[in-house]
Amino acid sequence: MAFSDLAIRVLFLLLVVSAAHAKGKDKEEKKDDKKESADGPSASAADGTYDITKLGAKPDGETDCTKEVEEAWASACGGTGKQTIVIPKGDFLTGPINMTGPCKADEITINLEGNLLSSNDLAKYKSNWIEIMRVKKLTITGKGTLDGQGKAVWGKNSCAKNYNCKILPNSLVLDFCDDALIEGITILNSKFFHLNIYECHGVTVKDVSVTAPGDSPNTDGIHMGDSSKVSIVDTKIAVGDDCISIGPGSTEVNISGVTCGPGHGISVGSLGRYKDEKDVTDIHVKNCVFKGSQNGVRIKSYEDAKSPLTASKISYENIEMDDVGYPIIIDQKYCPNKICTSKGDAARVTVKDVSFKNITGTCNLPESVSLLCSDKKPCEGVTMDDIKIEYTGKNNKTMAVCTNAKVTSKGVDKANTCSA
Ligand SMILES: *[C@@H]1O[C@H](CO)[C@@H](O)[C@H](O)[C@H]1NC(C)=O
Ligand SMILES: *[C@@H]1O[C@H](CO)[C@@H](O)[C@H](O)[C@H]1NC(C)=O
Ligand SMILES: *[C@@H]1O[C@H](CO)[C@@H](O)[C@H](O)[C@H]1NC(C)=O
Ligand SMILES: *[C@@H]1O[C@H](CO)[C@@H](O)[C@H](O)[C@H]1NC(C)=O
Repeated sequence: MAFSDLAIRVLFLLLVVSAAHAKGKDKEEKKDDKKESADGPSASAADGTYDITKLGAKPDGETDCTKEVEEAWASACGGTGKQTIVIPKGDFLTGPINMTGPCKADEITINLEGNLLSSNDLAKYKSNWIEIMRVKKLTITGKGTLDGQGKAVWGKNSCAKNYNCKILPNSLVLDFCDDALIEGITILNSKFFHLNIYECHGVTVKDVSVTAPGDSPNTDGIHMGDSSKVSIVDTKIAVGDDCISIGPGSTEVNISGVTCGPGHGISVGSLGRYKDEKDVTDIHVKNCVFKGSQNGVRIKSYEDAKSPLTASKISYENIEMDDVGYPIIIDQKYCPNKICTSKGDAARVTVKDVSFKNITGTCNLPESVSLLCSDKKPCEGVTMDDIKIEYTGKNNKTMAVCTNAKVTSKGVDKANTCSA
């Protein structure tokens, strides 16, 4: 979704500003360290565990617990060895939560057994709800929920009408984090994106459930950009925008055992919206199911890309489509809301080495396969093996619509075969 891109851009600008701040902060901290070691060891205990209720947080869903959560974070981050923050059963209301590193602790676990509720007082937020920045070896685990309580504010999202709309807070944001694991939790009804991963290396999302109504605006499930070694496994995503979107600069991404729907599919892109975006490569989507989603597997790029960029080595294998709009789609002329300037001299996004293998099921629009590539940069090295998707509607038949795509195929159902 286009507004997703805008959101990322806004986020990025905020990051640059806060990164500059943090640099100054690092220096101060170093000075303090020296002072501390001269005066003797600090008071922080090894193997610390910080339960927010012991710090005074009230599990009534009404009392603001931001202070207690941030206090637990400051202690854990400033501790040594392995540190744990416990959010026990109960409902804890909070405003924006700032969890910024770098931390002294080697490892931090947030044990989420209860529910964190995001306050609907939008005046409290600068950008995101829970923002985790510059942290290594972080685990968020448990059976609890991050509840964005978006229902009350989705009506304030004007992005469908106004491109310079105010962006609502994303729920969980990881910026510049290495070796993170998010496991078992539910992320519910985010005001905007549910999970956003930016400039992180080594992130695993496992057994997570991401849920919002199919008509909730810009509620992408998981978005990533400028990140590597991301793996999303055994995760169920039902949202109002892309289930997963893989933005510029994403490399070595594995997605398997994901169920998507409702939602707009698992998308690479959008690519080419901004200047100097980085390549996307080594993306593998396997053993996934799409149920009633608008798209299945999709690659979307702007024809009038601002600078050249390549999406390559992308594979889709063992995918089941159940009542999907566009099950397989490469769209090199993506242009939501007609904001693209011109066709011009552009076509600077290269899409190559994309394989689709063993993709079966049904669609509710006739185009089971849409490869809409540009005449200036035809899609190269597309392979299709064992594809059988059937249109279930009336008054039309299943068809593959392909332009400017070089396709090698084997075992593809006749109705799904690109002709000319
Ligand atoms: C978050 O905390 C860090 C470190 O304590 C600080 O430098 C930064 O300004 C805070 N960010 C916000 C948005 O409050
Ligand atoms: C992705 O899967 C490949 C093949 O199974 C594996 O070699 C690679 O380490 C995986 N990468 C990640 C980030 O999970
Ligand atoms: C094809 O994919 C389906 C899942 O969609 C899987 O059950 C089946 O085993 C796969 N077939 C082969 C030959 O791998
Ligand atoms: C059938 O679907 C194709 C592809 O979407 C469309 O171009 C065509 O107009 C449709 N035909 C009818 C009779 O609706």
